[in-house]
Parts: sequence; structure tokens; C-alpha cells
Amino acid sequence: MNKNILSICDLSSDQILSILDLAIYLKDPLNIQSSKTQLRGKILGMFFQKPSTRTRISFETAILQLGGNAINLSFNDLQLSRGESIEDTARTLSLYLDCIVARVYSHKDIEKLSQYSSIPVINGLSDLFHPCQILSDLLTILEYKKKLRGNTLAFIGDGNNICNDLLLGCSKLGINIKISTPPGFEPFKWIMDIAKKESKKNNSFVSITNDPFEAVKDADVITTDTFVSIGKEEEKQQRDAVFLPTYQVNDELVKYAKPDYIFMHCLPAKRDKEVTSEIIDGPHSVVWMEAENRLHVQKALLIKLLDKEFIN
Ligand code: CP
Ligand code: NVA
Repeated sequence: MNKNILSICDLSSDQILSILDLAIYLKDPLNIQSSKTQLRGKILGMFFQKPSTRTRISFETAILQLGGNAINLSFNDLQLSRGESIEDTARTLSLYLDCIVARVYSHKDIEKLSQYSSIPVINGLSDLFHPCQILSDLLTILEYKKKLRGNTLAFIGDGNNICNDLLLGCSKLGINIKISTPPGFEPFKWIMDIAKKESKKNNSFVSITNDPFEAVKDADVITTDTFVSIGKEEEKQQRDAVFLPTYQVNDELVKYAKPDYIFMHCLPAKRDKEVTSEIIDGPHSVVWMEAENRLHVQKALLIKLLDKEFIN
């Protein structure tokens, strides 16, 4: 497996499936005992430039439950805040830690951090990608739909970090993916191109439209994300005006999906913006299992990256 997991691009289809298998094993309460000391002595550094509830706390819980430890690397307490370079910070942290999870504004920063670290670096969200979230989403689809290949997922909203890694994850596993964004908020062409290539290999399809009704038609899974990602707060008014009401997941829109569709959201959600309360709190919503699965997939990822004895 690659040393660094900065995007779903860093994982092959087989590696993704093997992480999901291990996550399912670790999720079973019967197996908690056997993994309790699996990462004994390993130390995870957690560097978060932006706020986080799920990613930060599930990573810390994951390493603790596997017998390791976590150190919070607060920006203001590091010499980074006084101008020490990312390169030198990476070299130094590699002398003490076993792994770093980082949440950064600019993807270039995590690329630099990983390039100069000799230990694994995991992306806990950048402006471009959110691989750990998408692993959890795939596990959630597998659990509810009993299969991955052949499902159709509709993503409605901002063609941003979540959408980008969903495109890669779905296309690598043969899940059809239909994206609907307002004009000007589409994912980058180079990411669409990779997804199209992957989906061709896997006999699935990728499509993009500005019409959300077209995207949700016959979908097995509907998902969305905030219209105002962290760092975009200044664009809030302008974004609300562009996205609402057309790109809201609501009762009217979901009528076009399959009757047994599931609704997913990476969270945090802005109720009655990208999704109505009726939908996110309704019977098709699986958002709490999706959030719980963050813990299980991250445990699996940490074991795969850090346990040299573990047979992949
Ligand atoms: N989904 C997700 O990454 O949540 P946090 O921002 O709370 O970590
Ligand atoms: N697109 C959102 C995802 C949060 C988990 C953001 O970047 O803020």
C-alpha cells in the first residue's frame, strides 16, 4: 500500500475492498478484544488547521482502542506558527511519531508534508479530497445494499472535496455515479477524466448534469454536502442564492429515486439548506451509521499502514 493516503487515488480497488473487509471485522464486537493491543506503542500525530468533530475524534478513539496513543499537534503550539517550514516540521515529526493525520486548507500543504515525512501521512480533509470519509461511505453502502458494484449513487450539490473522492471511490468499485451541481460548481475536469477511465474499466458510468432530478432518477443512494465548505464562509450568501432551492435534497427530489434509496451525508449538515430535516431525520437516512463507520475504517487504515506484521 502507498505510504501516504492523500486521496482515494492512492488506493487500488483491491486495497479499498481489503480495508472495508478489515473494517467489517473490527466492527464486530466479538473481535474488539483481539485488536486491543494491535498498535501498542504507536503514536499518531493529529494536525488540524480546520475544525473537526468526526475525523479528529474518531481517529483519536481509533488509535487508543488499538492500544496506541495520539498527540494533538496544535498549529499555535508548533514552530510552524512562527514560520518554520512544512518541510522541516515534517522531517522533525518523523523522528518521533509513527503516523500523521492532517486536515489542511490547501492540498499542496499535505502533499508537502507527506513528501518530506518518512512516516505515513493521512489526509483528514483538504480543499481537494476526503479519502477517509469516502471509505466510510463505501462501507455504509455495502452494509445497506449488500453489494457495491451495480449501485447508482447521485451526488447533489457542490463539486468539491467530498464529490471528488466519491467520484474516484465509486468509479474504482463499479458504482455508477451521477453528479448534479449548479453551473460553475462542477468538479475539476481532470478528476472527472480519472473517474471516467476507472468506471470504463469497471463497466460502470459517470455522468454530470445541472439538473438534480435527472441525477437522482432511479438512484440507490443520494448524497450531498454543505454548500459552504470550511474556508468558504465569506461566499455564504452568494452560494445560498446559487444552490437554493434547486439543489436541496427534499421530498420532491427524492421521489425520483428508487423506493428503497438510502440518504447519506458526510456531516456536519445544515438542515433545511442542502437537505431538509424530513430527509436527514427520515427513514431512508443512514447518516449516523455513516458517521460511526468513520471509526471502523480508520482503525482498518491505521492497521494496514502501521502494523508491519499484519498480513494484507
Ligand atoms: N465528515 C467530517 O469529516 O466531519 P468533521 O468535519 O466533523 O471531521
Ligand atoms: N466539504 C466540506 C466537508 C466537511 C466534512 C468542507 O470542506 O467543509
